[in-house]
Amino acid sequence: MLYRLLVRPWLYLLPPEPAHLSVMALLRCVGRGGLRRLLPAPAPRSRLALTLWGVDFPNPIGLAAGFDKDGEAYGALSRLGFGAIEVGTLTAQAQPGNPRPRMFRLPRDRALINRMGFNNCGAEAAAGHLARERQRTVPLGINIGKTKAVALEDALDDYATSTRWLSPLADYLVVNVSSPNTPGLRDLQAVSQLRPLLQRIQEEISATAARNVPLLVKIAPDLAPEDVDAVADLCVELGLAGIIATNTTIARDGLLTAPEEVARCGAGGLSGPVLRERSLALLRRLYGRVGSRLAVISVGGIETVDDVWERLAAGASLVQLYTSFIYSGPALPRTLARQLERRLEQAGFASVSELIGSECAAQRQAGNQHLSHEAKE
Ligand code: FNR
Repeated sequence: MLYRLLVRPWLYLLPPEPAHLSVMALLRCVGRGGLRRLLPAPAPRSRLALTLWGVDFPNPIGLAAGFDKDGEAYGALSRLGFGAIEVGTLTAQAQPGNPRPRMFRLPRDRALINRMGFNNCGAEAAAGHLARERQRTVPLGINIGKTKAVALEDALDDYATSTRWLSPLADYLVVNVSSPNTPGLRDLQAVSQLRPLLQRIQEEISATAARNVPLLVKIAPDLAPEDVDAVADLCVELGLAGIIATNTTIARDGLLTAPEEVARCGAGGLSGPVLRERSLALLRRLYGRVGSRLAVISVGGIETVDDVWERLAAGASLVQLYTSFIYSGPALPRTLARQLERRLEQAGFASVSELIGSECAAQRQAGNQHLSHEAKE
């Protein structure tokens, strides 16, 4: 409420990117040493806690990639009530990203359009920032992508360099092949290109990190259903830890904002509630295909505790958000966690793990009952 009444109107006086940079400067400052003590202490372990790939998550609600590209604000972000922080996308070489303006608000839709183009400080510098975060209370995901100046044929070496710098610091590593803002990047989602890329990254992890770092792939919501299945099958075959679904969309349908206004923003990825149905449908498809053989992290249009509940019940092991954090403010992760905990208690779940995939389990049970009923008849 305070954020909406007092802070957001001031931030809205600034264009979206300067507003974001101001918030990041504040978070960097507050996250440092002594000032960090002003932030709330991590919540005690509760029924929201879960363990995935041997990593302990205090709750299943994470911050999606793109907010803290350079891994500079982990300290403050990890005190806001998130269950995980994913930094990046980081590339092997530092790069400025696309020309500004490159981030746009669509307030009527509580949506954003961005074509940032992986502006980041580069894997080595980010490793320096993240190595300073020795006392981590919340798992750290690191998301890597391709340097724009590197040709698609040389993408393997580029991702391998980032893996070398960053995998030793990551609780999980994400291969981003789904941003619409780096030309050609999404072609890497084709299984023929994805297979050698993932195998190379797996080899690099084995060679550099002392432990088996969970590896995930982040996919676009614009993939055709059969391509989603092919990526899922490949991930199972290669023994990956999971899939993150989804990144932003290049589609523009379903918006309330006037088409001329949307067109003025130009190219880029669209995020926010307009992604909700697409992202949920993709989660259901993925969970139906891979079940518990892979973890699915669901992201796209999550704003409320109903959304979080729905995704977990549909089989997501974790969820993430970005755009709703921008519109609702810093209290959102803690509020959602509190509401989810109350819901679980009311529904009689001793742990959030019991909720994960419960929609499918209930459907299977209803199906079995139906069949045994028919058999009796
Ligand atoms: C993003 N997103 C993103 N994803 C990613 O893997 N690497 C990145 O660098 C970025 N950058 C980025 C910048 C901005 C301004 C936005 C709005 C989004 C995508 C993000 O992580 C998420 O997948 C989508 O935004 C969908 O979730 P929400 O925003 O609807 O909760």
